[in-house]
Amino acid sequence: MHPNSFPISSLLAPFFLLFALIRVPTTLCVDDLRYSNCSTIIRCGSLANIGYPFWGMNRASYCGQPGFELKCEDGVGKITMSQNTLRILDVNPDQQILKVAREDYWDGYCPRELINTTINFNHFDYGPGLRNLTLFYGCYLPSTSVFIFLTNCTINGAIMDVSYATRSVLGDPRPEVCHGSVIVPIYETAAQDLEVNPLTVNDSLKGGFELQWKVNDDQCRNCRESDGVCGYNQTTNSFICFCRNHTSETTCSPTQVQRLQREIFIKS
Ligand SMILES: *[C@@H]1O[C@H](CO)[C@@H](O)[C@H](O)[C@H]1NC(C)=O
Ligand SMILES: *[C@@H]1O[C@H](CO)[C@@H](O)[C@H](O)[C@H]1NC(C)=O
Ligand SMILES: *[C@@H]1O[C@H](CO)[C@@H](O)[C@H](O)[C@H]1NC(C)=O
Ligand SMILES: *[C@@H]1O[C@H](CO)[C@@H](O)[C@H](O)[C@H]1NC(C)=O
Ligand SMILES: *[C@@H]1O[C@H](CO)[C@@H](O)[C@H](O)[C@H]1NC(C)=O
Ligand SMILES: *[C@@H]1O[C@H](CO)[C@@H](O)[C@H](O)[C@H]1NC(C)=O
Ligand SMILES: *[C@@H]1O[C@H](CO)[C@@H](O)[C@H](O)[C@H]1NC(C)=O
Repeated sequence: MHPNSFPISSLLAPFFLLFALIRVPTTLCVDDLRYSNCSTIIRCGSLANIGYPFWGMNRASYCGQPGFELKCEDGVGKITMSQNTLRILDVNPDQQILKVAREDYWDGYCPRELINTTINFNHFDYGPGLRNLTLFYGCYLPSTSVFIFLTNCTINGAIMDVSYATRSVLGDPRPEVCHGSVIVPIYETAAQDLEVNPLTVNDSLKGGFELQWKVNDDQCRNCRESDGVCGYNQTTNSFICFCRNHTSETTCSPTQVQRLQREIFIKS
């Protein structure tokens, strides 16, 4: 440090103060608000580190994509897909995996209504290593090696017997005679347990299943690497990168690759 630097900087201090005061209105500009709003992550119970493409709670809708709204209820993160409310058990942003379980099957296999699992295939795919558990309601047929009887449930005021199968049920009369059936994906390992032990049925439902979200991760990575924050314009349905003082469709500053490309362009 130069020995004279101290007196000089103290001389300039009032100017810095003035500068700081003048800058206040610009820090309130809309780009800054979006930048700071989307810089926050979602925390809910044991979940942390949830950012783009998710939004909800402390993150405004422009911080994520439609179909990725999260809610936090009593410390439990939830996402809605069609008629299903899914509990979020875990999130892996690097692998874009969301581990979920159906809210209506959290307390066992007697839901209030019979609703199939319907995921939003525009944004998600089922993860690997899953098998479909089919729960049959109101069949009144005896157990077989494929259909295993559980106990009765009261659904919508009606008492119904419940049985399940973890394998394809093609050719069996059961689906036609039952009051209804519901398909819930479970882990392959849980399905193997269920084949030998019906007592694990509630645990297998609680264990949930994995969904992989289908979002172009490169766009967001490039934006982040340029010190931007990822967002989405729900009007134009396109990705946006919020920078400290402006908004970009790609990145805040040229990426390494873009700089190299420009250098090559200038040289040639
Ligand atoms: C972000 O914006 C949303 C919607 O306007 C608001 O509810 C939320 O409190 C904001 N969060 C932060 C951290 O400013
Ligand atoms: C599973 O949940 C049902 C309610 O849906 C309950 O009646 C049953 O006792 C539970 N079974 C086990 C093994 O916990
Ligand atoms: C769930 O899906 C299966 C297979 O498509 C169908 O047979 C069953 O009726 C559906 N159940 C409900 C409650 O919609
Ligand atoms: C389970 O059934 C659904 C249709 O209800 C299907 O989309 C999905 O691929 C099936 N999953 C497995 C693992 O077979
Ligand atoms: C289940 O309900 C049926 C019909 O209501 C009844 O006949 C049967 O005894 C019940 N089974 C059990 C285990 O409660
Ligand atoms: C989205 O695009 C519309 C139309 O171009 C624009 O008016 C709006 O400000 C944009 N929203 C965000 C969050 O950038
Ligand atoms: C925005 O801020 C960056 C540094 O964060 C600066 O290089 C750039 O000139 C600024 N742009 C505008 C339009 O103020």
